[in-house]
Amino acid sequence: MVRLCTERLLALLPFFISLGECSLVYPAFGGIPASIAGTVDHNESLTDSSVIISTAHVVDQKGGATEDFPPNLPPPPVRVTALDGDLTNITLETMTLAGKRQTSSTRRFATDYVNLFNGTGTGPSDRDGSIEGTAYLTYTVVDNSTYNIEACLDFCDQVEQCVFANLYYEFNNPLLDWVFSEGSNLKCAVYADIHNASEKLNRGGQQLEPPPAGLTFIQESSGWAAKSLVDPNTPDGYELVFGPTNGANDAPGYMGFAFIDRYDVQACADLCNTRDPDSQGGGCQFFNIWRAVVNGVPTTYTCSMYFLVADESTAVNFGQGDLIVTQSRGYRRKSVVPDGSFEGFTCGDDLFCFTSSYSAWEGISPPYGNFDASIFHFAPYAHTGTGAALLGSAYGEDDLPGTLMPSSKLQTEAGKTYTLQFFHNSAYSSIEDEADAFVKVDWNGVDIATIRPGFSNWTFYSFDVIAQGNDVLQFHGGKAPAFSFIDDVNLFLTVG
Ligand SMILES: *[C@@H]1O[C@H](CO)[C@@H](O)[C@H](O)[C@H]1NC(C)=O
Ligand SMILES: *[C@@H]1O[C@H](CO)[C@@H](O)[C@H](O)[C@H]1NC(C)=O
Ligand SMILES: *[C@@H]1O[C@H](CO)[C@@H](O)[C@H](O)[C@H]1NC(C)=O
Ligand SMILES: *[C@@H]1O[C@H](CO)[C@@H](O)[C@H](O)[C@H]1NC(C)=O
Ligand SMILES: *[C@@H]1O[C@H](CO)[C@@H](O)[C@H](O)[C@H]1NC(C)=O
Ligand SMILES: *[C@@H]1O[C@H](CO)[C@@H](O)[C@H](O)[C@H]1NC(C)=O
Repeated sequence: MVRLCTERLLALLPFFISLGECSLVYPAFGGIPASIAGTVDHNESLTDSSVIISTAHVVDQKGGATEDFPPNLPPPPVRVTALDGDLTNITLETMTLAGKRQTSSTRRFATDYVNLFNGTGTGPSDRDGSIEGTAYLTYTVVDNSTYNIEACLDFCDQVEQCVFANLYYEFNNPLLDWVFSEGSNLKCAVYADIHNASEKLNRGGQQLEPPPAGLTFIQESSGWAAKSLVDPNTPDGYELVFGPTNGANDAPGYMGFAFIDRYDVQACADLCNTRDPDSQGGGCQFFNIWRAVVNGVPTTYTCSMYFLVADESTAVNFGQGDLIVTQSRGYRRKSVVPDGSFEGFTCGDDLFCFTSSYSAWEGISPPYGNFDASIFHFAPYAHTGTGAALLGSAYGEDDLPGTLMPSSKLQTEAGKTYTLQFFHNSAYSSIEDEADAFVKVDWNGVDIATIRPGFSNWTFYSFDVIAQGNDVLQFHGGKAPAFSFIDDVNLFLTVG
């Protein structure tokens, strides 16, 4: 077999170039992989803001207490109203892994609300409108012997996520007049977002009761908003990276977006956890949730997902035209594996170096083996960034498999399910030489998977594991010249 070896030598390391030989240049000498396909180009996969903005202009998430539903129903589950630019109506419960919602126990009092607007009077010709707005949760009817603001705000206190109440009389509705046991026409509709008088879009006008009864109409529609908005709870397995700000991320590693019918951080985390991985970039690791306000009116709640972790430096999309971005927060998925990207191993200004271990990872060779598991700082070997791990003798001196493992035991919560994710590549040597490439994934001493892909470009793998606490993760493999590289190892809590 003839190989054009010199083409694959790295110019950075002229010292090692030996033009006469025509053999594989081993990783320890900075050889160049046969293929680097599948590495992540950060300049691609940027947030497609134009699709988000155009979809925000067509989605309709307005709601109110206008249906025939009886009062006091629990708020409906979160709905996905658009997915990657297509309008949908998906109840999120059916999509999630039943993410555990952490309830907030902040109780407010009437003095903790501000009166945003009042209604018309009660004269025979006074006509008003009730709110038709986003993030409608549910309604109650309150005792109508007085204009019962207190009872309405008490109700809002008790409904999770309620920050706004719309109190109004509705006339000529037989359900209120005759059917519902409360016997009151004073409706109190509550929302998970704040609305103003410009959103009094339901003006009644329905013939619900047979004539001579008149059409439905509304009077004295007032709006009440919580003075202080409680910060949302951070979902399990995540941490807040930034926010709230008025900038949405315009970042690489974008995997698409969903609109949800209210600002629900847990729902966005569930969407990220269940998002299909990107073949180049892997699983969702970060989401950006924000509220779109169009012409001063809350319109939708965007959940953008990313396989790369973003931060506030890219949260620079403040809106476009009549749409402004508000309440933008970024959350990253916390990996239990320290330095799973191997970026922590460096060599000053040098672009190339390797080691059998450093603070975060340990490479172990069997007896008579030499550098059978190692960590490289060298961009051509990395899936992202400059660090990656190698299985197989770095000097090509033996064909023994090595073992790569985190230096410390993994700080998991016993009994919980985690998802192990990583990228693998066995495209260093020729197709023939990589034929025997293999990696065994070992979790607390048990083989959970064996990868035998032969020659393979960077490929994403994902396995669910159950934690015992202080878990031991090992990658075992390599049979030089059948080399395997591992990069971007993450262990994420899979809520459920
Ligand atoms: C690896 O990627 C290269 C370049 O895109 C491609 O030509 C080759 O077919 C890929 N190999 C495999 C096994 O997918
Ligand atoms: C990405 O874009 C930046 C700025 O435009 C450029 O300097 C860099 O070379 C690009 N990287 C790749 C991999 O194309
Ligand atoms: C979405 O689906 C629910 C349940 O099927 C239905 O009650 C609701 O009216 C639908 N909403 C829209 C906007 O289509
Ligand atoms: C609503 O009416 C009450 C009583 O007249 C008044 O005190 C209050 O300032 C009004 N609220 C607004 C927002 O105008
Ligand atoms: C209270 O509501 C009931 C039922 O709709 C209605 O019959 C009654 O006239 C209302 N009372 C007042 C004071 O508005
Ligand atoms: C209330 O509505 C008006 C339009 O009537 C809008 O310009 C304004 O921004 C809204 N105010 C708030 C606080 O959202």
